[in-house]
Amino acid sequence: MKRIFLSLLLLASFFAIQAKTLVVYYSYTYNVHNIVAELSRQIDADVVRIEPAEKGLDYAADNYAIGSAQIAAIRNNPGDAASYPAIDPVNVNLADYDCIIIGAPLWWSQMAAPLQTYLFHNGKAMAGKKIGLIVSSASSGISGVEADARRLIPDGDFLTPSLWIRSSQTSNASSLIAGWLSQIGYHNFSGITITPDDQFPAKYTIFSVDGRMIASNALSLQTLGRGLYIINGKKIYLND
Ligand SMILES: Cc1cc2nc3c(=O)[nH]c(=O)nc-3n(C[C@H](O)[C@H](O)[C@H](O)COP(=O)(O)O)c2cc1C
Repeated sequence: MKRIFLSLLLLASFFAIQAKTLVVYYSYTYNVHNIVAELSRQIDADVVRIEPAEKGLDYAADNYAIGSAQIAAIRNNPGDAASYPAIDPVNVNLADYDCIIIGAPLWWSQMAAPLQTYLFHNGKAMAGKKIGLIVSSASSGISGVEADARRLIPDGDFLTPSLWIRSSQTSNASSLIAGWLSQIGYHNFSGITITPDDQFPAKYTIFSVDGRMIASNALSLQTLGRGLYIINGKKIYLND
């Protein structure tokens, strides 16, 4: 059996080269919000939520009239900044991230308008970064949202496939996300991954990502399941 003894120093050097992930999403009725909350339990990422500048709009009223008008404006003139609804300022330095996961509601077969606004202004700064796309829709297929993402992030290194979660499947997000992360090889390019055969120094504490203390010392990693843990204060993915 392979036995790798990691010193804390070695661990520190791993973290120095750890790839960083940003999740950017918009959510009107909280489906994407709940999906992103689940994603955050499975990966180590910073999360940014896009907010329309105009508050209190009911995008679904009158058969989705406002959302529909916003999508139509973008469709008619996608190159004009004036076609995109205003959003609150977003304070994030994209240069800090290697991977960006976009969480998008589908509106009239396109990407929800406020998220398009963010990508219209910032998509070019995502050139060369790994881009993952998660889309929530009631029933419509997601190819229009994928096309929007590729138009707005012209030089993104897109991870395929995208993850499509129907709104009725939001409660199954945990397993759908876990399957998708392994499909795109997420844990191979992001963060530090250890296997149960790896060993930690004598002193460590392990928490679940939702803050439950799992063990303090004297626990073999072999007894933990696959997943994300906080070990000595750092998020670490344990592979099986
Ligand atoms: C303006 C608007 C347009 C929508 N258009 C579609 C559509 O064309 N097809 C579809 O399957 N769902 C459509 N939906 C439903 C959303 O895609 C779905 O409810 C999604 O889960 C919303 O994500 P959220 O809860 O994070 O906002 C639309 C929703 C809104 C608000």
